[in-house]
Amino acid sequence: MTNDGIILVTGGSRGIGAATAVMLAERGHRVVVVDIVPETPAGANASVLVWPESFDVAREESVTSGVAAIEEKYGPITGLVNAAGVFGKMHSLERIRMENWDREVNIDLRGTFLVARAVGVRMAARRHGAIVNVASVAGMTSGPIHAYTAAKAGVIQLTLSMAGEWGRAGVRVNAVSPGFTRTVALQAGIDSDAMSEERLSRNAAMGRLVQPSEVAEAIVWLLSPMSSAITGINLPVDAGFLAGSTWDSYWGLPNGGSKS
Ligand SMILES: NC(=O)c1ccc[n+]([C@@H]2O[C@H](COP(=O)([O-])OP(=O)(O)OC[C@H]3O[C@@H](n4cnc5c(N)ncnc54)[C@H](O)[C@@H]3O)[C@@H](O)[C@H]2O)c1
Repeated sequence: MTNDGIILVTGGSRGIGAATAVMLAERGHRVVVVDIVPETPAGANASVLVWPESFDVAREESVTSGVAAIEEKYGPITGLVNAAGVFGKMHSLERIRMENWDREVNIDLRGTFLVARAVGVRMAARRHGAIVNVASVAGMTSGPIHAYTAAKAGVIQLTLSMAGEWGRAGVRVNAVSPGFTRTVALQAGIDSDAMSEERLSRNAAMGRLVQPSEVAEAIVWLLSPMSSAITGINLPVDAGFLAGSTWDSYWGLPNGGSKS
């Protein structure tokens, strides 16, 4: 990523994508946001450009023609953030409806692949670029969101294989795996009692949710020359969810002090 190209952020109207687009623009980058529902992210300055057409990451034609049109209008994409995604619906295995399975896998995995491929081949031809895929701790753990966990595990694996494919072509590909992150959508779920903040945060070593800006910081770093030797990693940004989630099998996480 350099300051001469643009950074494309998918799913940038809201949530983690929006926080990342705003932060990148504040730090002097030209950002183009694409989304299935295009909207200016809250707090965006004039360096955040919103692509006005609906951009569906799961549709190949929408992705290939959209990426070509964006580069024609704004110039080469030197950084890509794949933040478009949908959450998994909670169901037991036997109750999963295949239209929900297909929706989650198509947007979260197929969509990440389509956009990363369309942009990555262009970066590889120019021998310069950085890609960050937003995976999830759900892709590294188990939960009753079976399509989502499989899709996010796929994103982590895809990140590795794309890093291998394009490493010598000067394109770095990394992932971040957020823990439960206090986006507007998640906060609405907590406020309506559909989700419990205590339940969402009690397995995190730090005992709290992640802020969207904390995920954005990691993404911005992985796009920047500060991480120039890093490719193929999956960086958890989870307030210690992975570190803490097995402690319940022992004596539980200490409550601010240490147990003897
Ligand atoms: N919030 C969390 O707790 C959390 C945790 C781990 C991972 N994630 C991941 O972070 C990413 C962003 O999620 P978020 O929490 O910011 O969600 P969000 O709902 O706030 O934002 C997602 C954005 O993606 C867009 N989008 C949805 N389907 C699309 C499609 N087909 N094409 C283009 N855009 C589409 C939405 O319109 C929305 O603007 C997702 O991949 C999600 O799985 C979120």
